[in-house]
Amino acid sequence: MKIGVLTSGGDSPGMNACTRAVVRTALGLGHEVYGIYYGYEGLINNEIESFDEKAVANIIHRGGTILKTARSKRFFEANFRAHAAKNLNDKGIEALVVIGGDGTVAGAAEFNREHGFKLVGCPGTIDNDLFGSDYTIGFDTAVNTVIESIDRLRDTAESHDRVFVVEVMGRDSGQIALHSALAVGAEAVLIPETKYDTEKLIDTLSKSRAGKSSKIVIVAEGDESGGAYKVADKIKGYFPELDVRVTVLGHTQRGGSPSYVDRKNASILGFEAVKALLDGKQNVMLGFLKGEISYTPFEKVKKHNDLGVEYMLKIVQTLAK
Ligand code: F6P
Repeated sequence: MKIGVLTSGGDSPGMNACTRAVVRTALGLGHEVYGIYYGYEGLINNEIESFDEKAVANIIHRGGTILKTARSKRFFEANFRAHAAKNLNDKGIEALVVIGGDGTVAGAAEFNREHGFKLVGCPGTIDNDLFGSDYTIGFDTAVNTVIESIDRLRDTAESHDRVFVVEVMGRDSGQIALHSALAVGAEAVLIPETKYDTEKLIDTLSKSRAGKSSKIVIVAEGDESGGAYKVADKIKGYFPELDVRVTVLGHTQRGGSPSYVDRKNASILGFEAVKALLDGKQNVMLGFLKGEISYTPFEKVKKHNDLGVEYMLKIVQTLAK
């Protein structure tokens, strides 16, 4: 079989480990592998290269994606998808492993419906927001990066008795915010899955234990409060005596060498993705559910934001007292 592999959407740490696993598993089983650059854009533009084992040497520890990536708008259009199909057919490539988030999976589903290629997906996004998997490639590293950054901020917060409002990534998902809030001992966390409640935030801060000199508030970028600067203004409005500072962590969260968890899981997913194709599975996104490999039909994969939200929030709130 000739198998193509691409990464699409936002890059995430561990995508390289997954690509490496796809390439080496397929080659090891006697198949041919093609790397496709810039995700679906590369399919349209015919940026497709034959890969050997060496093409993926020395990348398991690297962040980003050697395959490059893009959020292709053109792939939404049938005529560009037809162009992509022709490029694959010309090379005799019949199957693809696509690594990315919900947009990547939606593109794959459409491509299969129209042109019949065999496609499987691996969940690659720092947001951990896909139905069908408890885990996405890059989430663990991103949370570790956030934790490290906030630990540093806390040194200053403590030394100056300051409040730090920290904005983390997650356009539609509060998973990074929630998990890091628990791990850094934040006073409060604001996420898109729950309604923003100024009263509650102010109440939490005013009830904060006497003698607690520093306070950390984490805001997911997609929260309806409008982001860390707006939240900081609200806090200053209620507590003019507090020294409130804002840090927006931004794309620092997407980069960096993948953690052990991301390297391991990405390698397993890449290996299993090739096995799935060879077993005749298609139109499924691989993932982990309760520690076991899962196969979720493309049409069921969507953003979902409720993974442990209530439970985690309750713990964050209880421990902040
Ligand atoms: O989907 C991952 C993510 O990092 C989101 O958390 C964030 O909202 C978005 O990508 C940012 O995308 P871009 O880098 O294209 O601006």
